[in-house]
Parts: sequence; structure tokens; C-alpha cells
Amino acid sequence: MTMKDSNAAKPTAAQPVLPDAQTVTAVKHWTDSLFSFRVTRPQTLRFRSGEFVMIGLMGDPDPKTGRQKPLLRAYSIASPSWDDELEFYSIKVQDGPLTSKLQHIQPGEQIILRPKPVGTLVLDALLPGKRLWMLATGTGIAPFASLMRDPETYESYDEIIMMHTCRDAAELDYGRELIEGLREDELMKELLGEGALDKLRYYPTTTREETANMGRITDNLSSGKVFEDLGLPKMDPEHDRAMVCGSLAFNKDIMAILDGFGLKEGANSDPAQYVVEKAFVG
Ligand SMILES: Cc1cc2nc3c(=O)[nH]c(=O)nc-3n(C[C@H](O)[C@H](O)[C@H](O)COP(=O)(O)OP(=O)(O)OC[C@H]3O[C@@H](n4cnc5c(N)ncnc54)[C@H](O)[C@@H]3O)c2cc1C
Ligand SMILES: NC(=O)c1ccc[n+]([C@@H]2O[C@H](COP(=O)([O-])OP(=O)(O)OC[C@H]3O[C@@H](n4cnc5c(N)ncnc54)[C@H](OP(=O)(O)O)[C@@H]3O)[C@@H](O)[C@H]2O)c1
Repeated sequence: MTMKDSNAAKPTAAQPVLPDAQTVTAVKHWTDSLFSFRVTRPQTLRFRSGEFVMIGLMGDPDPKTGRQKPLLRAYSIASPSWDDELEFYSIKVQDGPLTSKLQHIQPGEQIILRPKPVGTLVLDALLPGKRLWMLATGTGIAPFASLMRDPETYESYDEIIMMHTCRDAAELDYGRELIEGLREDELMKELLGEGALDKLRYYPTTTREETANMGRITDNLSSGKVFEDLGLPKMDPEHDRAMVCGSLAFNKDIMAILDGFGLKEGANSDPAQYVVEKAFVG
């Protein structure tokens, strides 16, 4: 993908042409450590809701040669596959090679986007079922921000449960506003289909800041609290499907719990009852 293929603004002398450049159209800062942004979408980019791409910026010039190399990181596409633009939801790591810079991007500036979407958090990687559990910690909600805005999610399941857990309440705001926004937006309601959003159950919790709903996803599933709170039966391999996106430690612990309910891990090439993706490495 080149500038010619995109609807990105023409670069100025002060703004050199980046490979695979896309233009930032909006930025919103949620907390000191979280922000979201939207960029133009290459006209030829096709992806399945839930997939991720590599995005980034040019790195600092090499002190010896002065040459710059792209600094790229994996990012879940947070917007649905039908959207004209692409949305991303990002951490700000203080000394992070990419996000220490990316957090300062402004509308009109460019990022690099390698148009090769991949990933396991796609509806096709699951066998048909009745309920879809979307289980996320931190920025792991990003792929579900995409799937929650895709009509196919609601066509495929009778109930969709979004469990999102963060340390503090403010870290839940991106997901909360997105879900509240869906419920208030007449166009979205129409697009997602009659009654679709009635199928969506939202179960946010915090683990450090005292709030009305607390606890790790793992604990709330193991203790049965979430089933009690939502009036749902315990997960079973016939009816329940799950998608997981969080830290390595979270993913490992939740997989043991899902295995305990009798669910099996699937993949694009071998659909089963649950799929897992890392929200970050380290
Ligand atoms: C498949 C996949 C999808 C990803 N999707 C997203 C996404 O949608 N949004 C996003 O913000 N990041 C996402 N990441 C992480 C992302 O690739 C980068 O690690 C992140 O942007 C930080 O980049 P950096 O260069 O600033 O720091 P890095 O050197 O990449 O990371 C430094 C350290 O910061 C911590 N860290 C990095 N990313 C996160 C995070 N997201 N949440 C909490 N701690 C983190 C880790 O401890 C890591 O070792 C994804 C990673 C993978 C593997
Ligand atoms: N977010 C912050 O305020 C903050 C502050 C300082 C440093 N950091 C650093 O930033 C990085 C990412 O922080 P983060 O808060 O985005 O992600 P995180 O540490 O993965 O925590 C996100 C949420 O997942 C929960 N969690 C973590 N491990 C789990 C497991 N094995 N099973 C079930 N739940 C689990 C946490 O609960 P618990 O609270 O119970 O762990 C928390 O609610 C970490 O390296 C962290 O050290 C973050």
C-alpha cells in the first residue's frame, strides 16, 4: 500500500512520505496511560472484525548512517470491518519505543500501517454456539470493540457477554462509553439489527480501585459470581464460546478455567470452543 492507494492527505515538505502511510483523523485521551485514535483506511484493506495489524512510526535516525527504520508494533483493530476508518485503542508506556511517541500524535499527522491483518479472535475460529463470552483485561478490549460493532456477532449468538477488568474505574471508560454509545445511537441500532443490542451483556469490574463491581475475571468465573449476577447457567461446551484477550498471565489462568468447564481451544484452521490472543507481550 502506498500513499497513492490511500485517501491520506498529501504530505508537505515538513511531513515526509512514510511507507504505508495513513492519516490520523481523531485522537482521544482517556487517562494518563490510555488513548484511542482513528486513521484513514486503505481502500483495499479487508479484515475480519477482531484481527490485528502492525502499525507504527519512523524510528529515530541511526546516529552513524542517519537512516530511519519503521518502528512497528501489533495492534488490534478496534473498529468493525464495515467502518470507513480504522480505530485503535492504545496504552502509553512511558519509555516504550513506540508509544512514548505515538501518544503525541495529532489529527493530520501520519502513521505507518502494514495492511496485512491476522489474528485468532474471529468468529470463524469458533464452532457455532449459543453464548459468546468476550473476556478482556486492560487494552485487551480492543478486538471486542470491533466485534461488538459487527452485525455478524449478533447474528451468530443469542447472548454476548463482555467481561472487562481493569485496575481502576477510569481504565474502563473507553469500553463503557462505546457500549453506552451503541445503545443510544439509532443508526447503530439499525445497522446491528432489531434487538441485537438486547443480546449484549456488559460486566465490567475493577481490581484495585473500590467500585460497585469488583474482582478478577478469573475469580468471578471460578466462584460462579458472574453466572449468578447475570442469571446464566455455568459455562458448558455445548452452548458457550469464549474469546480471550489479556496479559500472558491472565490468558494462561483463564485458559485453565475454560478447560475446566470442558471448552477446547480452537484456531482459524481448527474451530473449537474458545480462542486466545495476547493483548501485549511482557
Ligand atoms: C497481537 C497483539 C495485539 C496488540 N494489540 C494492542 C492494542 O490494541 N493496543 C495496545 O495498546 N497494545 C497492543 N499490543 C501491544 C503493542 O504491540 C505494544 O507492545 C505497545 O504498543 C507498546 O509499544 P512500545 O514500543 O511503546 O513498548 P513495548 O516495548 O512494546 O512494551 C514495553 C512493555 O510495556 C508493557 N505493555 C506493552 N503493551 C501493553 C498493553 N497494551 N497493555 C499493558 N501493558 C503493555 C509490557 O510490559 C511490555 O513489555 C498488542 C500486542 C500483540 C502481540
Ligand atoms: N494500570 C496501572 O495503573 C499500572 C500502574 C503501574 C504499572 N502498570 C504496569 O503496566 C502494565 C500493564 O498494566 P495493566 O493494568 O494495563 O495490565 P495488567 O497488569 O495485566 O492488569 C489488568 C487487569 O488484569 C488483572 N489481571 C492481571 N493478571 C491476571 C491474572 N493472572 N488473572 C486474572 N486477572 C489478572 C489485573 O488484576 P490485579 O489488579 O488483581 O492484578 C487488572 O485488573 C503492567 O506491566 C503493570 O506493571 C500499570
